[in-house]
Amino acid sequence: MHKVACWPHRKQVGSDMYSEKELLEAARQTLIDNDRGGYTIPTAGLYPFQWNWDAGVTALGWMTFDQQRAWDEFHALLRGQWQSGPQEGLIPHIVFHQAASSYFPGPDQWGCEADGVVRQVATTSITQPPLHASMIAAMLQMNADAQITQKNLLPIVQGLVRHHRWWYRCRDPLDTGLVFSSHPWESGMDNSPAWDEPLKAVPRTTRAYTRKDLGHVDSSMRPTQEFYDRVVYLMDFNREVGFDPGRIAKESPYRVNDIGIISILNGASLQLASLCEGLGLQDDALFLRARCAMTARAIGQLWSEKLGQYVSRDQITGQLLEVPTHAGFLSWHGRLVEPAHDARQLATLLAWMHETPYALPSTRSSHPAFEPARYWRGPIWQHLSALIQDGLARAGHRGASDLLAASMQSLFSQSGFYEDYRPLTGAGVGGTHFSWTAATYLFGRHVQSLRA
Ligand code: GLC
Repeated sequence: MHKVACWPHRKQVGSDMYSEKELLEAARQTLIDNDRGGYTIPTAGLYPFQWNWDAGVTALGWMTFDQQRAWDEFHALLRGQWQSGPQEGLIPHIVFHQAASSYFPGPDQWGCEADGVVRQVATTSITQPPLHASMIAAMLQMNADAQITQKNLLPIVQGLVRHHRWWYRCRDPLDTGLVFSSHPWESGMDNSPAWDEPLKAVPRTTRAYTRKDLGHVDSSMRPTQEFYDRVVYLMDFNREVGFDPGRIAKESPYRVNDIGIISILNGASLQLASLCEGLGLQDDALFLRARCAMTARAIGQLWSEKLGQYVSRDQITGQLLEVPTHAGFLSWHGRLVEPAHDARQLATLLAWMHETPYALPSTRSSHPAFEPARYWRGPIWQHLSALIQDGLARAGHRGASDLLAASMQSLFSQSGFYEDYRPLTGAGVGGTHFSWTAATYLFGRHVQSLRA
């Protein structure tokens, strides 16, 4: 077990690659080691709780060798869902199943003990990209056992429907078709350079606090102090407005139409609508399809002619955030790419892929904001490459999809299961022994074996 935990440091050079057998064993062992009894932590120390979108991806990994455990990941996540109040339906970005002192900001910082919301476990007050229904749709294609599925599916789908309704109600109250995020951490791509401009409007907190992340990972890989001052301000803002979604929608100093979230939400809503149809939840299916149609009509507003890809927009100023990040390519996964932009965005993606030995960097390597080892400003996240790869294949771009898959495979073989990877060398960065990376490997391998 310990051998596996440190092995990514062992092989970094030349042709000294991990075999498929080694990778398979290590990936399963990673999930087993990070299991805390019904939920999986992303990695020990740095992230000691259950994270929202990590849980969805991690379930796919469990599905390859323990189906009930895969469904349990969602049951555990839904224990943190807000059951009452104006934000009813919110699935928070972290569920604090048990105490841990190695993380800031922990449960005492978010104000959840005083918010009056009914839920089973302490949580944060923000969310993360809602990819869960897409993960469940994938799970159902993985030789899912009919009895286990029947026992688990309905309550999870109902919880997800309430969450998607929360997104549209609280984060697009004017029915524009484009939801907004109210905190960079909601994007999951915490300090992407796309957020630099909108974050300038957020004051830096003046209160004292102690970061814990720098005790686990070198500061050169982590977000800056200035960034933390602003995100702590936003956390406190939520609490001070009493978590009132109306006030957040009007007064939050950070409101961004995030192309990553919009794409992931749309892809998942389409999958959720199909799941609802299968379960006889017709009203929910109709609602979701109507919202997706609204988003499809609005998505053109996020096209950047300058960059040749979709981008995010500052909802407060109306400015497009024209920084080339990989989030734009999630538009294929969200089935949102308009025919008029498809070929151009594909050309942009292929140009990116030729600029670095490994794909797909989170920021285009030729852009001044690119930093190969710093969080979300350059490194590769394998689960996002998998979503983009899936979107490309669905859109009929098989060649680009295969190219991305090959790059993903070489990162696994060369470096094992890190949190993220440097696009210039393929070396792993951030946390080691990382759950969603291991799960992404297990899922990819399983899909390949079904095809063979
Ligand atoms: C970091 C990432 C976020 C992820 C979390 C746990 O905060 O930015 O996307 O969910 O770690 O892996």
